Amino acid sequence: MSPPILLAQLTDTHLLAKPTAQLRGCNPWQTFNTVLQTVAQCQPDGLLLTGDLAEQGELDAYEQLVEAISQLPMSTYWLPGNHDHLATLQQVFQQLPTSQGLTSIDLGPWQLILLNSVLPQAKFGEGYLSDQQLQTLRTQLSQHPDKPTLVALHHHPIPIGIDWVDQMQVQNADDFLNLINQFSNVKLVVFGHIHHEFQQHNGIGFYGSPSTCLQVTSVESGLTEERPGFRLFWLYPDGTYKTEVRRVKIKPSLS
Ligand SMILES: [Fe+2]
Repeated sequence: MSPPILLAQLTDTHLLAKPTAQLRGCNPWQTFNTVLQTVAQCQPDGLLLTGDLAEQGELDAYEQLVEAISQLPMSTYWLPGNHDHLATLQQVFQQLPTSQGLTSIDLGPWQLILLNSVLPQAKFGEGYLSDQQLQTLRTQLSQHPDKPTLVALHHHPIPIGIDWVDQMQVQNADDFLNLINQFSNVKLVVFGHIHHEFQQHNGIGFYGSPSTCLQVTSVESGLTEERPGFRLFWLYPDGTYKTEVRRVKIKPSLS
């Protein structure tokens, strides 16, 4: 069998404009750079950035992010989270020829679909998939019915079992789940937002990844000093896959 496609998911980087600045006691640039070094050693074919790339959608943060990943040889795939400023994100990533965002990508044997689950004017970071996003998803899945597909979005479309986090999930998740369940080619649904390692199999594999900075615990509104990390996906040509979370040695000390 041909070798698998290796994707590295990095999520919820929450980068700040100033590289030395702290976010709730964590330096997001320090932890991100450590994660990125570890990712580079894995030599993935692509980076999958699943949103909340900058804490407040800062232009300077995106520019430094693009500069950092432009040093690496692999392609970059991105979508926005509720902390991002989409127009700024698009503008900066357009300058990186090896990046593609919010589109469908032919990975060869696999298809990657990047959705926008950000709800404009959300009250507490909750997500929503517009009719247009759902229609795009349906069209892409219909056009390539034999292609195993990874669907990526920022917000989680199923509850993960932490009440305060689950209030922020995709609000019309049933529409999404009803749609993907009509297509046997959907193998994986991958998301960020939860700052937490998560997996569930229900015919389709649902996976969340740790943040590259702050980690969420099951305690109400709590953060833990769990190590930052990322997730690897090995996508095999026959539609099977393997995935695992890797964490780095650096530990954020929380204030
Ligand atoms: Fe986040």
